[in-house]
Amino acid sequence: MTANNAMSIACASCGETLSDRTPHATCPKCDGLLDITPASPPARGVELQKLFDARASDYAMRGTAIQSSGVWRFRELVLQTDDASIVTHPEGNTPLLHRNAVSQYVGIDSLRMKHEGHNPTGSFKDRGMTVAVTQARRCGATAIACASTGNTSSSLASYAAHAGIPALVMVPVGRISMGKLAQTVAYGARTLLVRGDFDDCLRLVRESAQSLGVYLGNSLNPFRIEGQKTIIFELLQQCGWNPPDWIALPAGNLGNTSAFGKALREAHELGLIEKIPRLLSVQASGAAPFAHAFAEDFANRHRVRAETIATAIRIGDPASWDRGVAAIRFTNGVVAAVSDEAIMEAKSVIDASGVGCEPASAASVAGVKALVARGVIKPGESVVTMLTGHVLKDPEKILTSDAHSPHPHPSAPIEIDANLAAVERVLKSVAN
Ligand code: F0G
Repeated sequence: MTANNAMSIACASCGETLSDRTPHATCPKCDGLLDITPASPPARGVELQKLFDARASDYAMRGTAIQSSGVWRFRELVLQTDDASIVTHPEGNTPLLHRNAVSQYVGIDSLRMKHEGHNPTGSFKDRGMTVAVTQARRCGATAIACASTGNTSSSLASYAAHAGIPALVMVPVGRISMGKLAQTVAYGARTLLVRGDFDDCLRLVRESAQSLGVYLGNSLNPFRIEGQKTIIFELLQQCGWNPPDWIALPAGNLGNTSAFGKALREAHELGLIEKIPRLLSVQASGAAPFAHAFAEDFANRHRVRAETIATAIRIGDPASWDRGVAAIRFTNGVVAAVSDEAIMEAKSVIDASGVGCEPASAASVAGVKALVARGVIKPGESVVTMLTGHVLKDPEKILTSDAHSPHPHPSAPIEIDANLAAVERVLKSVAN
């Protein structure tokens, strides 16, 4: 990052530069991905840490939503704008959790989980959406749209409602969880059930943005990436600016992988951290084009027809491919794929620890376990893994599990007659 007084936006493919109030989420000339370079912050290194730390202390006691947001605390590195245009609930300030049962399961004593399911709509998407919807307001958008596997649509619907901008979402019919669909509809988005998969939905929404002038809210939009960077800034702050050795996350469309790589690069360039943690991006094995490419040192871009129980990451043609590759290369990272069985097993351990998460989130924990088993992550290393979505996001995967299901939940409910003897029988089996 070179010193600059104002934020700049340029196309990573053709170099076209755009105004900071652009209504385009991809390059208007070549449809390439746009990169944002934030304005130089007022300080570097320890001084910048102090600025952010002063804002973080007793955030809950502060007056305004902007002051208590875990995204806008880092506003110098996110988006320079006036308070009046900011659309915030607030969001962020998510906990970093340690549970012995999960640590033992993966074989890392110091494993911590950053639970992004604590965001206002229950997933990490709120971090990017507060910034993208703020930008939609800044550029005078008349409608905002996205394709989604359910979390982006819930988040976009909520923030658009807050901003008073109409929302249009496209989801693959029958292929997103009921919880997410209900949430999206509840917040008032016009919801289109598309006969196709997520990749079809994304193609359609991109065409709609180009031809119909709606503002694109997917993570192709560089303002989403700027907001999602704060997951890393906040994590680094929680670690006293002493980064862990590894940061693991589930990967689908690669927006978050991209944001993490960009955040780590900027944090390093600004002297916020000295060491760069290694990223571990984890895909479901039935939706793993990025993991296939990693195994070939990214010689080819892969596309697959995606299938996995983790509907949030059922994506076959990730949109932020080049940014994702850059993030893995910059952090000397690793991309892994884990089976649905491994995902659901990890989820049952996380759930039973009292923390809970949706299936896609558990992929990150399953990925850490797999890399420990392969000897890539050493038992003495420090690892933070991202839980990207709340346990209630996907209730079907818990309640439809029974003894005959391929993934029975260990505490699936038991129907009983309304008498004490029946309760006693169950209590005995639980106590044993
Ligand atoms: N975890 C959860 C819970 C998600 O909802 C998603 C993506 C990811 C991980 C993967 O993140 O796409 O940035 O690599 N969900 C999107 C959606 C696709 O529409 O909600 P990514």
